[in-house]
Amino acid sequence: MKIALASDHAGYQLKEGLKSYLSNFDVIDFGTDSPQSMDYPDTGFAAAEAVGKGECDKGILICGTGIGMSIVANKVIGVRAALCTSVTIAKLSREHNDANVLILPGRFMKIDEAKKIVDTWFSTEFDGGRHIRRLNKIKKYEDRR
Ligand code: RB5
Repeated sequence: MKIALASDHAGYQLKEGLKSYLSNFDVIDFGTDSPQSMDYPDTGFAAAEAVGKGECDKGILICGTGIGMSIVANKVIGVRAALCTSVTIAKLSREHNDANVLILPGRFMKIDEAKKIVDTWFSTEFDGGRHIRRLNKIKKYEDRR
């Protein structure tokens, strides 16, 4: 599985920690490459676009709160980005929303919690059923753009 990984400066440390943890995946790192201040839309959009275009299967984006990365990732057609602050929310974002981009809040999450969330997120399948109807509606509204 090909993973698009990106952060800004506030998510850099967590991104680097997860990069080594994700050694079983084919990880494409869209930056940033240092804790030097930068703008999250630049790395976030590029990584999310790789998922939207099907060049990567899933994405993980990290900024300080996770909010900026969520906003930018969800601008990309085909991306369903979910800000996950717990293992339960990560599980539900896969089961109910078929999230294909995981967003983490770098300034508010320790690496051990992030690893648990990542494990859960990758091992949880979409539930389908009634949720398909809802995702189809999102797609319909997306097609209006
Ligand atoms: C950077 O200071 C911070 O604004 C950014 O990481 C993120 O939290 C934005 O939503």
